Amino acid sequence: MKSFTAEQLRNLYLKFFESKGHKIIPSASLIPENDPSVLFTTAGMHPLVPYLLGEKHPAGNRLTDVQKCVRTGDIDEVGDNSHCTFFEMLGNWSLGDYFNEQAIEWSFEFLTSPDYLGIPVENLAVSVFEGDEDAPRDLSSAKKWEECGISKDKIFFLPKKNNWWIAGKTGPCGPDTEMFIDMGGEKCCETCSPACDCGKYLEIWNNVFMSYYKQEDGTYTNLKQRNVDTGMGLERTLCILNGQKSVYDTELFNEAKAKIEELTQTTYNQSEEIRRAYRIILDHVRTATFLIGDTRGIVPSNVDQGYVLRRLIRRAVRFGRNINLPEGSLAKIASCYVEKYQNAYPELLANKDKIVGELNKEEEKFSKTLTDGLKEFNKVVTYVKGEVFPGKTAFRLYDTFGFPLEITEELAKEKGFTVDVEGYNKAFEEHQKKSSQGSEQKFKGGLADTGEQTAKLHTATHLMQAALKKVLDPSVSQKGSNITVERLRFDFNFDRPMTKEEIEQVEALVNEAIKADVEITCQEMSVEEAKAQGAVGLFESRYGEVVKVYTMGEFSKEICGGPHANRTGELGTFKIVKEQSSSAGVRRIKAILS
Ligand code: ALA
Repeated sequence: MKSFTAEQLRNLYLKFFESKGHKIIPSASLIPENDPSVLFTTAGMHPLVPYLLGEKHPAGNRLTDVQKCVRTGDIDEVGDNSHCTFFEMLGNWSLGDYFNEQAIEWSFEFLTSPDYLGIPVENLAVSVFEGDEDAPRDLSSAKKWEECGISKDKIFFLPKKNNWWIAGKTGPCGPDTEMFIDMGGEKCCETCSPACDCGKYLEIWNNVFMSYYKQEDGTYTNLKQRNVDTGMGLERTLCILNGQKSVYDTELFNEAKAKIEELTQTTYNQSEEIRRAYRIILDHVRTATFLIGDTRGIVPSNVDQGYVLRRLIRRAVRFGRNINLPEGSLAKIASCYVEKYQNAYPELLANKDKIVGELNKEEEKFSKTLTDGLKEFNKVVTYVKGEVFPGKTAFRLYDTFGFPLEITEELAKEKGFTVDVEGYNKAFEEHQKKSSQGSEQKFKGGLADTGEQTAKLHTATHLMQAALKKVLDPSVSQKGSNITVERLRFDFNFDRPMTKEEIEQVEALVNEAIKADVEITCQEMSVEEAKAQGAVGLFESRYGEVVKVYTMGEFSKEICGGPHANRTGELGTFKIVKEQSSSAGVRRIKAILS
């Protein structure tokens, strides 16, 4: 088989689908916009949900991209050959345009043509949906594969468990067809198929024929349109095409790996244990680099995305101890990634100082308490009776020494204990009650929720941003936005707390706009045109070429994809309930409509 670099594979993929009438769109942010139902973008389809549901995408109905993704569900598995918490997903989409047969034809061409991946047909195997009470057996996909030249014995019909794709519990979904490299060798058993994990078949691509919507009650309805959603994992595909054993052997990690070798005076393959530590550090630092360096970048904190980031960094620090990684190393490793990825993701270079600064700060903070915390852990663990490590102690390790629960769980596991998580949560809640932090309802109001209240809060967010510019400074702009059915949350750059008067002025301006009851109009135009009209927005290429601009009389003109009210008068009364610091130089407002 041919071999490829990451850059070659990315470009080849995009160019191929461009030649088939697809518009290349930039990767969306890793931090989902206006969607609190998930912490991170976990698949290429995620930022496209509104368009899979029927909204018109500004760039058209055939799209292709390389999407940055973060999945931390399998973080404990990182260290083996294949798991990563960050990965890139190559994808192509039909939004109500072509369907399964066309998608398969192109997939086959890309995989086998000597101009593209040039994989011999006999090395391929595919699976298709076998059908059940919710959807029919996918005979047309199987037929198409056969017409392309895949022999019948390499086409496997598999059940929903294997050949149905959905992100989460509800939402757009459908049967899929998956493509595998047959690594050769004997079948492991009579029924050996791509459903086995014996290693004979390695998946490289998934085409989802997304025409269903799974409801809360478990039933399926038809979507307005039939879509195609595909995903090819870049690291995995590179590794397989290049005949490597592990994704960590791909050139993506070369420089970072060499940097760790230089800093620790160890070698990557010195022992299994050392290799595992390397992989954990390589993975976690890469993910942290992309999260901090994102266009909607985050910083370590104790909640939500910031907590996951903190956990990744601290875990890297802890495993760094096992190979004598000196303090201050994470930023040096991150710099290797900034360089490696700067062409594909220029935001990393633009945010390099922030990446280095945040990593150094977090590493320093945790390094200070890690030694004492480990001492404390090792002391306490000798007193533990039975197999359960007390939750209260786990909370103390968190509160005093900054050990995320998951680190304590891991340490406990290494010694044969499990942590009493319930006890930990109880101690945590008691502590929280004391510091009187309310909990928020986080799982409503997502991208797929175009409910009335969400639309109103989106509209209020626009009005508020305009008011903040007027009251505080024209340079104030959005650094983050998150909307649930109950409140809006808005982060913006400003380096001091707002005064009571300023808060009141902003409220008054927004309420004035509401009272004026102006019509909200939406126009599609080029980014240049939007800029020329003075529209507010994150002018990043991720918007593609054509954007939607929402205008609310003289009050606001802003680029946005989100749902909106029809008139400002529908909003009710606007009130800021909290104004606080979010991170250095960034303030956070929570506001409600009543
Ligand atoms: N959404 C599909 C996946 O992530 C393509 O595998």
